[in-house]
Amino acid sequence: MSPGPRRIGVAGDWHGNARWATRAIKRISSRLGRGEPAIILHLGDFGIWPDGSGRAYLSRVDAALGDAGAELWFIDGNHEDHYMLSRLSPGPDGRRRVTSRIWHLPRGHRWRWQGRAWLALGGGVSLDKAERTPGRDWWPEEEITAEQASAVTAAGNADVMVTHDCPAGIAHRFPAPPAWWSHADLARNDAHRRRLQAVAKAVRPRWLMHGHLHYAYQRRIDMGWGAVHVTGFDCDGAEHSNWAILDTADMRWECFQGRFLTYLGKGVAHRTRIHVPHR
Ligand SMILES: [Fe+2]
Ligand SMILES: [Fe+2]
Repeated sequence: MSPGPRRIGVAGDWHGNARWATRAIKRISSRLGRGEPAIILHLGDFGIWPDGSGRAYLSRVDAALGDAGAELWFIDGNHEDHYMLSRLSPGPDGRRRVTSRIWHLPRGHRWRWQGRAWLALGGGVSLDKAERTPGRDWWPEEEITAEQASAVTAAGNADVMVTHDCPAGIAHRFPAPPAWWSHADLARNDAHRRRLQAVAKAVRPRWLMHGHLHYAYQRRIDMGWGAVHVTGFDCDGAEHSNWAILDTADMRWECFQGRFLTYLGKGVAHRTRIHVPHR
């Protein structure tokens, strides 16, 4: 069995921004080189979307991956067409094929790279749901269900956990939310982060990477089962740290878009802005 790629690209929220995505794919791939599968692992809010705009985005991303000799594996964020994803059947290895070069990793999907167990767990809460329409730009399947959480928990430990949302055990200070975000969605978001924390506590990863907050940071924190190396990624349009290159053998981050991130230690990360995606 192949040990998997030695180096991969990891990227956060692209929100269907084809211009940004295709440029990022080109830059990431140029740093991965040829000779092994060039894989970009995407942390959700990738850009699965209904209608022509969604198809055009996938077509442009697929073409860019083809030009780069790369493929992209993504977990679902909250801003995805979950109805479309639900209609895709998993292949023999559990991944769902979206195009010839784009694969969705269903919640709870596990695989091994360089001797480590990796776990994918997408999902998140749209805090701006109050302004969205079910089936058009919001889908109830955005949240990790109790059943999905139980199944992942029952499947046991993993070394690396790849999520869209950020578990509640990783503290952040957020600016005051916009007045139009509903209290119900804020509560739903808190509950979702707690659910993800409970899953992480059962899985006990040593590394965790996520998107969704549109805020780049790295911290090494004790979440109750020893040190966890946490990396959060910014979104499309970010000045830095929307993507990075990871050595999967020694779990060392080689290069971040724009500039290196440095560990913030044990402090609480501050978010300085709220980014509302264009979708
Ligand atoms: Fe998100
Ligand atoms: Fe996002």
